[in-house]
Amino acid sequence: MATKVIEEFLKNAIGLDSTSIGSVTVDRSVRRRMVECKLPDEEAYFKLLTVSPPELQALIDEVTVPETWFFRGVEPFRLLAEYVSAEWRAANPGKVFRILSVPCSSGEEPYSIAMVLMDIGLAKDQFNIDAVDINTKIIDRAKLGVYGRNSFRGDEGDVVGRYFHEVENGYAINDIVRGSVNFMHKNLMDKDFLCGMQTYDAIFCRNLLIYFDRPTQTMALMKLHGLLAVQGMLFVGHAESGCVDNALFSIVRREGAFAYRKSIGPKGDNDTASSEEKDANKPIFKEGSNYKKNIKRSARSGPAAGPPAIKAMKTTLAEAVPGGNEEDFLAKAAQLADRGELDEAGWLCEKQLGLDACSADAYYLLAVIREAQGHLQFAQELFHKALYLDPKHYQALIHLAGHAERQGNLAAAATYRTRAKRLVEAD
Ligand SMILES: C[S@@+](CC[C@H](N)C(=O)[O-])C[C@H]1O[C@@H](n2cnc3c(N)ncnc32)[C@H](O)[C@@H]1O
Repeated sequence: MATKVIEEFLKNAIGLDSTSIGSVTVDRSVRRRMVECKLPDEEAYFKLLTVSPPELQALIDEVTVPETWFFRGVEPFRLLAEYVSAEWRAANPGKVFRILSVPCSSGEEPYSIAMVLMDIGLAKDQFNIDAVDINTKIIDRAKLGVYGRNSFRGDEGDVVGRYFHEVENGYAINDIVRGSVNFMHKNLMDKDFLCGMQTYDAIFCRNLLIYFDRPTQTMALMKLHGLLAVQGMLFVGHAESGCVDNALFSIVRREGAFAYRKSIGPKGDNDTASSEEKDANKPIFKEGSNYKKNIKRSARSGPAAGPPAIKAMKTTLAEAVPGGNEEDFLAKAAQLADRGELDEAGWLCEKQLGLDACSADAYYLLAVIREAQGHLQFAQELFHKALYLDPKHYQALIHLAGHAERQGNLAAAATYRTRAKRLVEAD
């Protein structure tokens, strides 16, 4: 068996949860690489893995599952065509429709998207498709654009005659379609994944989340949320709709499409909280947008009030996040939130999470903002995420205690407050 250490290393590197494909499969890949590297045992191989990025890439190329075909599942492509022609074009005259396909594997998915867009009359310069995968070999095959019968499994209709020509070893996609996709070798789990890119109007992220565990799925979806334009469309695989957070995305009811719309953007366009929840939450920012009042009140209401040294006693939101320089999304977000510009502040937090999906402070700040906007359930989930990433997050504990109390769960509230109190005592 491949050692747990190698499985853990892979998980940290690319998000792969080895239970999704089975330890035996991981083990087989490791053994193949060990033979290739002429290494006697797993320990020696692991050592190499930790110091050699090329070897890590070779293992990734070996272990990832590139299964895909043209117009896989077909319905998402139909919905995309309808959305662009019936809605997006009219609302965005003269704009370029931007799509991300991640993971794109050997290119069948992004090329299918290109053919769909061409079929509804979009010229090459009216859309932009970025296609990303972590497997270098597969990206090379995608760029080549030559496919065997296995890439055509009956979903593709008559596209072969219109967009391909026969070559010696299969069918080559025509140059116009081939030139309309920008293939990139990237890792969705990287901190700076597509950092600085313009947002996308649609993202296809199909058949990748199934290889991740829950926290990794959440991180990935937060990144995609940050990369998606407001009201943009997200498509996931049929086995993945269960992991899409309905506080971030609202489902598009179309059988077989597994599509979502980004639900909360800079305009706070979706509202998931009940009016009762909103009323319960109102006073938090109503008393003034100053964060200090919120913290002090929370601290007063339980035994967890602590010395000024801890984060909770920071005066304003701006002071509550580290960094504070002009370039820092979070510092800016905090300043905006302090001024009551919550939509914009929330948007910056999402941007920050797109850059660093493990930032407990970004989750925390976003939670406070969503709470102030009345999205209580969503806020609670975000506080949980902050606490998951930083179990010593005093403020998240205090907020969660407040949520538990409001829900009548006094035992949970007491547990949160006890944990917070211990932090203060240990400080
Ligand atoms: C089953 S294919 C899915 C392809 C296509 N989206 C589809 O549904 O047909 C999964 C792909 O995910 C890629 N992959 C795995 N982990 C990744 C990561 N962390 N970042 C980017 N791509 C990844 C693999 O290399 C593989 O090509």
